[in-house]
Amino acid sequence: MEKTYLMVKPDGVQRHLIGKLVQRFEEKGFQLIGAKMFRLTREQAEYHYEEHKDKPFFGELVAFITSGPVFGMVWQGDNIVALSRAMMGKTNPLDAAPGTIRGDYALNTGNNIIHGSDSPQSADREISNFFRPEELMTGDYPVGLPLN
Ligand code: TYD
Ligand code: MG
Repeated sequence: MEKTYLMVKPDGVQRHLIGKLVQRFEEKGFQLIGAKMFRLTREQAEYHYEEHKDKPFFGELVAFITSGPVFGMVWQGDNIVALSRAMMGKTNPLDAAPGTIRGDYALNTGNNIIHGSDSPQSADREISNFFRPEELMTGDYPVGLPLN
């Protein structure tokens, strides 16, 4: 089953959006297999955003993502990477359609509420940066039958 790493960023936590965002993914039919509130270390943040390390916004990005608690989650479901990215909307809220998370809740690119892995390979890399295997429910655990 395909997995992804979704994370309510510090701005989403501060704005009390955790419940609403979890609800969207639950209602879609995805299965939550791990979640926790924590604060990223600088090392975790730099590794998480390593692909952007040469971009001008990297320093600000690391400062923002380590600025307060996040709510990190691992979800699974068919095509979850692409589907959850579609539900999140485009990175820049100016391009994010109404009805998407960023379209509904975000006003600027830096503070855009939520992170979602961009490929199954990124998901594996990101999940292992934040979760130990024993923190995740396995396929054997009764996490609920797929709704389809
Ligand atoms: P990116 O991986 O391109 O976007 P996404 O989160 O949609 O996968 O960028 C990571 C984060 O970096 C993005 O969510 C917000 C921040 N960012 C900026 O602050 N300025 C920028 O110009 C870009 C492209 C991203
Ligand atoms: Mg990205």
